[in-house]
Amino acid sequence: MQHVCIIGGGFMGTALAKYFLDAHIKVSLYEGFIARRQELMADEAFQKVIFLESIEDCKEVDFIIEAITENLQVKQQLFESIEEHFPTSTTFCTNTSSYLISSIAENVKQKERVIGTHFFSPAHITPLVEVIPSAFTDEHHIQKTMSFLQSINKKPVLLKKEIQGFVANRLQSALSREAMSLVQKGIVSPEELDFIAKWSLGIRLANTGPLEQRDINGIDTHMAIVNYVYPTLENGIEPLSIHEQLIENKRFGMKTNEGFYDWSTIDKKQYLAQKDDILLNVIKAVSAKDEEVDK
Ligand code: NAI
Repeated sequence: MQHVCIIGGGFMGTALAKYFLDAHIKVSLYEGFIARRQELMADEAFQKVIFLESIEDCKEVDFIIEAITENLQVKQQLFESIEEHFPTSTTFCTNTSSYLISSIAENVKQKERVIGTHFFSPAHITPLVEVIPSAFTDEHHIQKTMSFLQSINKKPVLLKKEIQGFVANRLQSALSREAMSLVQKGIVSPEELDFIAKWSLGIRLANTGPLEQRDINGIDTHMAIVNYVYPTLENGIEPLSIHEQLIENKRFGMKTNEGFYDWSTIDKKQYLAQKDDILLNVIKAVSAKDEEVDK
């Protein structure tokens, strides 16, 4: 049985733990914030997880999967501090959403064992995992990671080289910057923006990627559009003021009950479970069509 040690029991770490348990993988988890660890230990969903009081207590582990807060220095320190405790055969995966893998591995002596495995939220459902090697990552660790992910029914894609934000988050960042800009300019409300995105790009993206769609619509027509629209798109390199204001007011979204929307009266567990159900149906429909094409 493969053994995975997840570091960080937050939003992503717990979703990964659920997924791995369902795939019959042995799961150890180290959560640094004691109150959070105790909360997880009391949760029935995580009964089969081995909770660690210290990362070094974890033995004979195939993969370390780091899912701690998105902070480069903290991630660097973590990998540096655990390096000596695990044999070279243990692969060090980081679930960072944005940092270069070579930056995260900066203080690690054996940089060849550090690799990015960018799971996408909700991680217990979404099939795709971006696998990101740095220039130092060893072929053995790349192949081991790809085989593991395939064996548990994820859809890993190996990037040829690293880039900040990888692929999915670069696309997402471009889209969310423009979305916030349109709301900031007063063109639409957040609700209207989401409605437009969901019932146009959203449903289509589950079925055809953005480049395939350009072929369908006509690359010449697209050229006429981009010549006119590109100069007007949001291209600032600083976060937008609408985003800064939300941060200043501690409106972080669901986790603080307020973001673009008011979540205070919503049963979040139920709401997310409904979203999961819809997503599972979408995956089922898209997979059935893909299998037909593959035959
Ligand atoms: P989170 O804030 O929900 O969870 C992070 C957890 O790590 C917290 O429980 C915190 O107490 C714990 N932690 C922090 N430092 C630690 C340390 N040194 N040792 C042990 N535990 C520590 O964050 P979330 O959303 O789960 O993100 C985790 C990572 O996954 C980040 O790198 C993030 O960018 C990435 N990610 C997040 C996605 C998302 O949708 N939230 C999607 C894909 C990747």
